[in-house]
This record gives sequence, structure tokens and C-alpha cells, in this order.
Amino acid sequence: MQTLTLSQVTKTFEGNAALSSVSLAVAPGERVALLGHNGAGKSTLMKIVLGLIPADRGEIHIVEARPGSHAARAATAYLPENVAFHPALTGVEQLRCYLRLRGEDPADAEGLLDRVGLGEAGRRRIGTYSKGMRQRVGLAQALIGRPRLLVLDEPTSGLDPVSRREFYALLDELAQTGAAILLSSHALTEVEARTDRIAILSRGHLVADDTLTNLRRVAALPIHLQVSARPDAADEVARRLAGERHNGTRVDLVCDHDQKLARLGQIAELGTLVEDVHVIPPSLEDIYAHFSGRVPS
Ligand SMILES: Nc1ncnc2c1ncn2[C@@H]1O[C@H](COP(=O)(O)OP(=O)(O)OP(=O)(O)O)[C@@H](O)[C@H]1O
Ligand SMILES: [Mg+2]
Repeated sequence: MQTLTLSQVTKTFEGNAALSSVSLAVAPGERVALLGHNGAGKSTLMKIVLGLIPADRGEIHIVEARPGSHAARAATAYLPENVAFHPALTGVEQLRCYLRLRGEDPADAEGLLDRVGLGEAGRRRIGTYSKGMRQRVGLAQALIGRPRLLVLDEPTSGLDPVSRREFYALLDELAQTGAAILLSSHALTEVEARTDRIAILSRGHLVADDTLTNLRRVAALPIHLQVSARPDAADEVARRLAGERHNGTRVDLVCDHDQKLARLGQIAELGTLVEDVHVIPPSLEDIYAHFSGRVPS
């Protein structure tokens, strides 16, 4: 059974469609990245899942509960896009406060702050924290009470590279215990390695929802081959491969995935005229741009 299911969810703000018939599911232990341009509908989708705003149409289930119900709230943790805390409270005080609100033991505060690397700073006022430190308080808050579903709106914005890695390690642990994770991000390369599936929203439409490997295959974008010719042979290499000459000795070729091996064979046949070759597959940005551009009219 899925932890989260949305089917044909639609939301309109003052005549503008923010979500158009979006269907999406997240299974226990699955990490799904929600990508999309500014204003694509990511935060709106998350707020609907949390029951903070109602959908106009469609069905949403969290485990078996409705968004906003007591059961759904108890099962869900949320990290909002802009976390705001009381600047006069210390990290420990703020977390104790959240623990009490969720009916958990306030004594867990120190342990939770340790888990997000804020053990030391926990006794300082939040007003003195850096942006990344405040983000960590938000993460600690999201870990309260063993949630079955985590909804994280741009959780790594403001985190430095090492903190990002620690954050994803924490998510891996949670996923291994069966938590379902839906996170939005603009950082394409980090979601590539650390999530199981990628969902792309574009102007409120879900335009892709699959593993990166499958999206790569479906997009079938061209591959670039960069051939380094021997300095005196660049013109000949360009002519024989029907490639394009670039500065000095480089010859560029473009081909489809299924022509790649044949093209490499032709390059190998040139023997010592060629010094090196680089195969450059489509980047995640290329794949993202490919799907983002396909909005149903
Ligand atoms: N309360 C609201 N009233 C009116 N329009 C809204 C409201 N909330 C969101 N919108 C509109 O809905 C659309 C989707 O916004 P949303 O915040 O979901 O985008 P997003 O994908 O989270 O973008 P970002 O990457 O910038 O965070 C936008 O056009 C936005 O202006
Ligand atoms: Mg947003």
C-alpha cells in the first residue's frame, strides 16, 4: 500500500490553475524528488497534502486518512519552504515546545538536535543562528515522532555541501525504516544521486514521474562525442567523421544513443589520427528541460 496518494488533484487560485489534475503516489521507504520552475505548484501540492489548503477537486490519502485529519497529521512531518522560529528561544527550548505540541517527551530535544549536528549550538538563542543552522532546527522538528511521511519543501536550500550530504544520509536512514519522503528541490545534481524517483511539475501539470534512468531513456536526447585529433590531422579527422572543428584539434560529433557504438567504431578506425575521445551523455539539466517544456495545452 502507498503511504501517500494523490489522484487528479486540481487547485485554482483566482482563476489561475496552480495544479491541474495531478496524480502521484509515494510508497513506504521511497524518496521522491518534486522538481519544477518557480511557481510550478510544488509548495501548493505540499500544502494540500498537509491539509493547510483544500484542493478544488481530486482525492488525497495519507496512509488511509484525509489530509488535515488527526491521523494524517500524526503520521506526517513537514518542513516548510521558509522556516520561522522564535528568535529569543534557544534551539533546545524551541524543540521542547514542538515536542510538547506533538505529545512527545520534551527531554528528546537534545537528542534530536544532536542528530542534525546542532548539539553544541542548542543552548544559544535562535536569533544568533546562521541560515543553515535554522534550517537544521526545522529538520530536527520534522524528525519528531517517527513520521511515516515526510514532506520537505526545499530542505537543503541554505545548507553547505557537507551539510547536504549529512542531510541525505539522515533521509536514507528514515527511508530504510519505511518512511515515505516527498521533497522539492531546485538542486538537480543532488536529487540525481539521492532519490529513487523524480516527479516534474510544469505550470501545474505533472509532466514526468519516473526513475532518472527511465526518464533518460524516454527523453532519448542526443549524445555528444568530443574527439581530440592529432595536431596535424584535425582537418582530416573532421572530414572523415563529418564532424565540426573546434579550436585547434577538437572535433565534435552528435549522435543518438543507438548510433553511439557505431560512431565510436568509426573513430577507432582512424587509428593514430585520434588522440582521445570523450563521450558526454545528456545532463540532468537537459533531461529536466526536455520534460519541463512538454506542457499539455
Ligand atoms: N495563496 C495564494 N494565492 C494566490 N495564488 C497563489 C497562492 N499560493 C500560490 N499561488 C500561485 O500558485 C502558483 C504555484 O505556486 P507555488 O508556491 O506552489 O510554486 P512553487 O513550485 O512552490 O515555486 P517555488 O519554486 O518558487 O517555491 C503560482 O503561480 C503562485 O503565484
Ligand atoms: Mg515553493
